[in-house]
Amino acid sequence: MLVQEYFKSRTDLFEASMKIFMDPIDTYPKKLNEAMHYSIFNRGKRLRPILFLATYEMLIGRKNLKRLDRLLPAACALEMVHTASLIHDDLPSADNSDERRGLPSCHKKFGDATAILAGDALITKAIETLTKLKSKKEAIDAISILTHAVSTHGMIGGQAVDIVSAKKKANKNTLHYIHLKKTGSLLLASTELACIFAKTEENTRIKLGNFALNLGLAYQIVDDILDEIGSFEVLGKEPGGDSKNMKATYPSVFGLETSKDKAEKLLRDCYNIVKNMEHNEIMIEFINMVKERLP
Ligand code: IPE
Ligand code: IPE
Ligand code: MG
Ligand code: MG
Ligand code: MG
Repeated sequence: MLVQEYFKSRTDLFEASMKIFMDPIDTYPKKLNEAMHYSIFNRGKRLRPILFLATYEMLIGRKNLKRLDRLLPAACALEMVHTASLIHDDLPSADNSDERRGLPSCHKKFGDATAILAGDALITKAIETLTKLKSKKEAIDAISILTHAVSTHGMIGGQAVDIVSAKKKANKNTLHYIHLKKTGSLLLASTELACIFAKTEENTRIKLGNFALNLGLAYQIVDDILDEIGSFEVLGKEPGGDSKNMKATYPSVFGLETSKDKAEKLLRDCYNIVKNMEHNEIMIEFINMVKERLP
């Protein structure tokens, strides 16, 4: 199967299942559900759910759409918590960003209070969705992985340090912590979840976790670079927000060229992790996708 075909078919599968797990848009309270739908059903790249499915498919060595059905609650849960993180990230008291995915950000369209609640509701919806997994053992493992990834030890911890580090001279360890946690955590959850469903042995699970963390770190470094010299089309918003907010970013600490070198080195590390694994084509494609975002 061609790579483009793969991404199209898994994205279609994912979008159809998201429609099932979300409450209908006109569910009461209507404004809250509208805000959740607005943020979920738009132009997200669906990186985390597709990485999750692709990792699982590499591990089981088969490309059979039917076998993916039982994984879809976890694919949707990943995107729900990711979308919640973006809604809260854009709020005036955080990054104060007016645009997201090429559209007005959630709070611009629905107001701050509804945006805060939509983010909260998507995080709880994600946990509720994981309880729909058929195997109760898998459900508990999946909830444990996802809640850890979102928690103070994961994405929220990274976002908290991101906020308090603005307008300060960031040290390299702090910068590494912010990026690994705020972005790496949900990519790590994507491969960890795949390993739960594929019943993968510890050694491979650790390797794929390192792949995800390196990919996440590279992805965020590239995002920081794009925020300095990228375009609206690639970012889905006007660039320049990080420097306006005086954020701790890789380019602000290391400069653009060194940041680019760091991202490329991390992507080479990703390649070295998966290069000898069987059925690795789509994993390699993820590396290429991040590389191709570099301006
Ligand atoms: C945006 O994530 C936040 C970062 C980690 C840089 P994505 O670039 O995956 O955003 P969407 O989901 O495609 O909008
Ligand atoms: C946010 O990083 C990562 C999240 C966990 C939401 P950024 O603040 O750089 O993401 P963008 O640039 O707004 O997408
Ligand atoms: Mg931010
Ligand atoms: Mg932001
Ligand atoms: Mg950014």
